Amino acid sequence: MNFKKELAELLSVALEGELSVAELEILIEKPKNQSLGDLAFPCFSLAKVKRKAPNLIAQELSEKIQSPTFEKIEVVGAYLNLFLNKKLVSEQVIGNVIAQKSEFGSLDFGAGGNVTIDMSSPNIAKPFSMGHLRSTVIGNAIAKIVEKCGYKPIKINHLGDWGTQFGKLITAYKLWGDAEKVKQNPIKELLALYIKFHDEATSNPSLEDDGRAWFKKLEDGDQEALDLWQWFRDESLEEFSRIYNLMNVEFDSFAGEAFYNDKMDRVVKLLEEKQLLVESDQAQVVELTEEELPPCLIKKSDGATLYATRDLAAAIYRKENYDFAHSLYVVGHEQSLHFKQLIAVLRKMGFEWAEKMAHIPFGMMLKDGKKMSTRKGKVVLLEEVLNESIAMARHNIEEKNPMLPNKDKVAEQVGVGAVIFHDLKNNRMNDIEFSLEEMLRFEGETGPYVQYTYARACSILRKGNWQPESSAADYQTSWEKEWKVVSFLMEFSNAIKRACVNYDPSQVAKYIVDLAQVFNKYYAEVKVLEDSKEREARLALVYSVTVVLKEGLRLLGIEAPEEM
Ligand code: ARG
Repeated sequence: MNFKKELAELLSVALEGELSVAELEILIEKPKNQSLGDLAFPCFSLAKVKRKAPNLIAQELSEKIQSPTFEKIEVVGAYLNLFLNKKLVSEQVIGNVIAQKSEFGSLDFGAGGNVTIDMSSPNIAKPFSMGHLRSTVIGNAIAKIVEKCGYKPIKINHLGDWGTQFGKLITAYKLWGDAEKVKQNPIKELLALYIKFHDEATSNPSLEDDGRAWFKKLEDGDQEALDLWQWFRDESLEEFSRIYNLMNVEFDSFAGEAFYNDKMDRVVKLLEEKQLLVESDQAQVVELTEEELPPCLIKKSDGATLYATRDLAAAIYRKENYDFAHSLYVVGHEQSLHFKQLIAVLRKMGFEWAEKMAHIPFGMMLKDGKKMSTRKGKVVLLEEVLNESIAMARHNIEEKNPMLPNKDKVAEQVGVGAVIFHDLKNNRMNDIEFSLEEMLRFEGETGPYVQYTYARACSILRKGNWQPESSAADYQTSWEKEWKVVSFLMEFSNAIKRACVNYDPSQVAKYIVDLAQVFNKYYAEVKVLEDSKEREARLALVYSVTVVLKEGLRLLGIEAPEEM
């Protein structure tokens, strides 16, 4: 169903192989306005090879190209404008959707290769921030998109579960903590303890020494310290899990920073062997002067290893354990330098696979133009945000469709879907303004708009009592009115491919909003359910739209209720 390729092949034959199919495919354009054709081929670059005026070449080619796929070829100046055969192509596209269902649009260039995706990765005993939300949502969509392209995604939650802060937290807990309170509200209580530690330490500096001592105990494997750490970790994860459950996100691994504790000596040794470690201010670093980057800190003066050291160990572990084709890190752009250094050090160590690593950065979530902060106790609890969105969706349902069955379930799908879609609809590098009202609108580029379009299409199918199994596939229509929608359906796999190669889910989000729009326009103009010889074809088209909208939403991590 790759008509570009088909045209390139026809052109290559017509040109007697002067240009390859691949070269020709790149030259083929899609006219901005469909009234000019479905595909266009500019002949300018052929003028040199052929030593002929481009418009003459276009004329000659138009006479040579003959295929049932094209119902009309027009020459406009140096352009060849080609019109696809609407009947042939539409019936092929619709036939494919009906046969393939949710497999429609799938690609196989991933060839089964593993893609590790470092995503979400919140810090234990700290609130789940908007940045972690973005990482979760973007990483989850990328996982589904690469899977659709034939890769095998491996979602890794690189928890921030180790570091000197745990020594401080244990100190604070032992001084002022209350087990019951922590159990009831782990993150809030632990954060409060951590803040209290810092407040008290300004007037009582010896607290810092206690903190260091407890961290030392933790690193040395002291049982009490380890038990407390494990408990903080379990309680925090349980709280994070509520968010992951709400968002339907699952992980293949929770190997966080602590997991690499026993894997770092090897990294340091490797660096020593390769003579990459130098001393600087009593710390051990890898110089990255040629790379024009600041040195990468490997070991502090007190022997403690660092964030970067753990990431080196993690990168090597992932290569050895998963033999990845690509290794992705979905982390905010504030950490760009860290990932540049990480990749540069691995390159210096001689690991060719470092080229297969990529930092997938994203912009910030803003509220009234300002960064949404979780510090200074100004906690923006993500769960509250999601619950508020669900409550608002519930309220909308109550107003618009009070008789709806499963109201709570649908409200959850819509409320959560709205937050996810809002995040994914723009290029990930853009900062996004957080606004529940905006997210939950039923018009414009929103999740609820796409979901609503899907539900409406489902209801048409129910009313028409149409099922793919009963499809006659004997369509009595010219597909003229349907053509715009069909040509959008045809583009699905291209949107997926763009999203995959650029790690940019917004390609899919934009695509499904556009599809929803052309479909709604079609539905406003054509009486689908009216008794006519075209009814069967029209219902098959509506069905195809439901398949693609549902699959598009799924790729973003959003559910599609059949009624709302
Ligand atoms: N825990 C870190 C943070 O919250 C993010 C970790 C990202 N992943 C990594 N491999 N460094 O900032």
